[in-house]
Amino acid sequence: MKLISHFGYITQVVVLFALLLTPSMTVFADETTFQKVCSSCHSGGIKGWLSGAPNVKKGEEWTKYHQRHNKKEMMAIVMNGLNGHKIKGGCKSCSDDEIKGALKYIFSNTKVHNKELE
Ligand code: HEC
Repeated sequence: MKLISHFGYITQVVVLFALLLTPSMTVFADETTFQKVCSSCHSGGIKGWLSGAPNVKKGEEWTKYHQRHNKKEMMAIVMNGLNGHKIKGGCKSCSDDEIKGALKYIFSNTKVHNKELE
C-alpha cells in the first residue's frame, strides 16, 4: 500500500516537471502573443494602414521585407527596435520567447514568399 502511494507521488512530480519544462524548451508559433502585441499593426485595420505595417494575412506585403532581411535580421529588428519599430513591438513585459513565438507565427503565415530566401 505504501509503495503505491509513493509511486503516485512520483508520477505527480514527473507530470508537474513536464508541464513546467515544456514551454521553456520549445518556442511554438505563438498566435497569443501575436494577437496581444503585434496584431494591432500587423493585421490591417486603421493602425496597420496608418503605420504602414505589412499585414500578416497578406503574404505579398511581406515579400520586400523578406528580400531585405533574413529571419535573423528580422528577429534583431523586433528585439532591439529599428527606425519606426518599437522594441518588442512595444511590449516591454514580453519575454524573448514570446516575441520569438510571435515572429514564428508571422513567418509561418508568410513563408510562401521566403522559401527560396531562407
Ligand atoms: C505600432 C505598430 C506596430 C506594432 C505593435 C508591431 N509592429 Fe512590426 N512593423 C511595424 C511597421 C510600421 C513595420 C514596417 C517598418 C518599415 O517599413 O521599415 C513593421 C515591420 C515589421 C517586421 C519587418 C522588419 C523588417 O524590416 O524586415 C517584422 C518582422 C515585424 N514588424 C514584427 C513584429 C512583431 C513580431 C510584433 C509584435 C511583437 C510587431 N512587429 C509589432 C509596426 C508595428
